Amino acid sequence: MRYLVTGGAGFIGSAIANRLLNEGNEVYVIDNLQTGHLSNIPKNTVFINEDFSKNETIEKLQNAKFDVIFHIGGQSSGEISFEDPEYDLNTNTLSTLKLLQYCVKTGCKKFVYASTMSVYGEQSNKEQFSEDDVENPKSFYAVGKLASEKYMKIFAQQYDIEYVALRYFNVYGPGQNLENLKQGMVSIYLKQFLDDSFEKVLVKGDLNRFRDLIYIDDVVDITIESSRNDKFKNKILNIGTGKKTTVKQILTLIKDNLQSTKDIVISKGTPGDQFGIYANNQLLLSIYDKPLTSFEQGLKKMIEWVKEN
Ligand SMILES: NC(=O)c1ccc[n+]([C@@H]2O[C@H](COP(=O)([O-])OP(=O)(O)OC[C@H]3O[C@@H](n4cnc5c(N)ncnc54)[C@H](O)[C@@H]3O)[C@@H](O)[C@H]2O)c1
Repeated sequence: MRYLVTGGAGFIGSAIANRLLNEGNEVYVIDNLQTGHLSNIPKNTVFINEDFSKNETIEKLQNAKFDVIFHIGGQSSGEISFEDPEYDLNTNTLSTLKLLQYCVKTGCKKFVYASTMSVYGEQSNKEQFSEDDVENPKSFYAVGKLASEKYMKIFAQQYDIEYVALRYFNVYGPGQNLENLKQGMVSIYLKQFLDDSFEKVLVKGDLNRFRDLIYIDDVVDITIESSRNDKFKNKILNIGTGKKTTVKQILTLIKDNLQSTKDIVISKGTPGDQFGIYANNQLLLSIYDKPLTSFEQGLKKMIEWVKEN
């Protein structure tokens, strides 16, 4: 089988590309290395080092026909979407349109997209969201991701291109970029605890905020399975564990695991940041039956990986 994985130099995309290559498939990667790293790209991929929202980049694919396009790459920070909304729109939405048009042109029939929990936004005191809930994006990032979902729906209706929109909750684990201090709660805190150049651990926002933390291996497995299992066809799905973990719990677990004595300093939150959200993952559990990794297990594996590297 031949696959295109966008964002294959990033955290999630590189893990997906790796898994597909290990199965013996042919894998193309497009990535402009904006947040990804060359060293993450698995060997033996066809690598296009360009911006996937540009026509010239899509042309470099030379009409290669893919069995599935995994559009995983993107700008994944709410904060950056406020700093540069146009860049965010191109990267997260225009790219989706262009790749869907590429599907029509070349006869690719499956499109899997990395969407986000952020599409739900904040809704009074509601904490847990299911796919039936209305979306209320609070950042340009979330608007762009939601728009991509809508494009996919229309391409399915008009051109028969099957899609899966995976609304990832907070993904963490080995391979995450600890140098990116704008995205990834677990990695941001872990970096500050481990790096001696940080005297203290700075937390932007309240300690009672909470997230649904899902382990990278589970995300990779679900994402690939979603392209192969008909039960995922044309679905929008929450990809979370259905459990909430507070910032305080994350910090305590990391601190205990590392036996750190560093102080924690709390500052103002970032614009558009959600207070707390976790997944109703009943739809996922009804079609995917493998057990999901607990945060305690996942964090241990991540810390081992950080120490080894
Ligand atoms: N990590 C999470 O917790 C999480 C949660 C919800 C959604 N997501 C979504 O999952 C996807 C992958 O996230 P990640 O954590 O692996 O992020 P990442 O930053 O590690 O990976 C994204 C990759 O996309 C590349 N990229 C960005 N803009 C590009 C462009 N215009 N052209 C070509 N390449 C470009 C980057 O260089 C990077 O390698 C993103 O779309 C993100 O929005 C992630």
